[in-house]
Amino acid sequence: MDSSRLRIGVLASGRGSNLQAIIDAVEAETLKAKLALVLSNRSDAQALERAKRHGAPAIFLDAKPFSTTSPDPVAKQVAREAYDRAVLDVLKQHDLELVVLAGYMRIVTSVLINAYPNRIMNIHPSLLPAFPGLDVQQKALDWGVKTSGCTVHFVTEGVDEGPIIIQAAVPVLEGDTAERLSARILVEEHRIYPKAIQLYAEGRLHIDGRLVRIDER
Ligand code: GAR
Repeated sequence: MDSSRLRIGVLASGRGSNLQAIIDAVEAETLKAKLALVLSNRSDAQALERAKRHGAPAIFLDAKPFSTTSPDPVAKQVAREAYDRAVLDVLKQHDLELVVLAGYMRIVTSVLINAYPNRIMNIHPSLLPAFPGLDVQQKALDWGVKTSGCTVHFVTEGVDEGPIIIQAAVPVLEGDTAERLSARILVEEHRIYPKAIQLYAEGRLHIDGRLVRIDER
């Protein structure tokens, strides 16, 4: 693999199927990137195993020493920032150009966002700005929407609010459960996330306020 490839670091908390889609695209050479690091806040994250199988550094960084039991939102924010400083120390050692959140179930603070301005991407299983936050497939069903989908966006301080890069829509079907809808959305997630990263690698994404312009080729 040549050294000019985009060096990406993936943060993941669980199953890591999006990470796997990225790994598959790297191995198939449709994504010209090098997976330089996978970091997880969960020791049991399957994502870490997937990274190791690919031969990428896989690091578990425990959030417990940084957590607080205080209900005070300021104390919570201070704790999140302290953890992110520890994350940043690790990221910096791996010379990353792009940080990719793939099922990373923590709120990212300004500590990381300022260190990687417009260089952090996330995938979210709804058509943002509809249904930010958690349990969004169930929320889509509860609202009776007829179409849902997924969004790849740049990460800013507002949760799930950053400039949108690519979206894909899927139909919501009669009798859907959150599991069935999630599975249908996931197929599209695996398709669009490597594509968005490749567009970044090709220098084709330009942020203009809250809009992302994609250079046509
Ligand atoms: C994916 O559906 C992803 O969009 C979602 O978690 C799942 C992770 O699956 N992310 C969020 O909800 C972030 N707010 P994976 O671990 O198999 O990639």
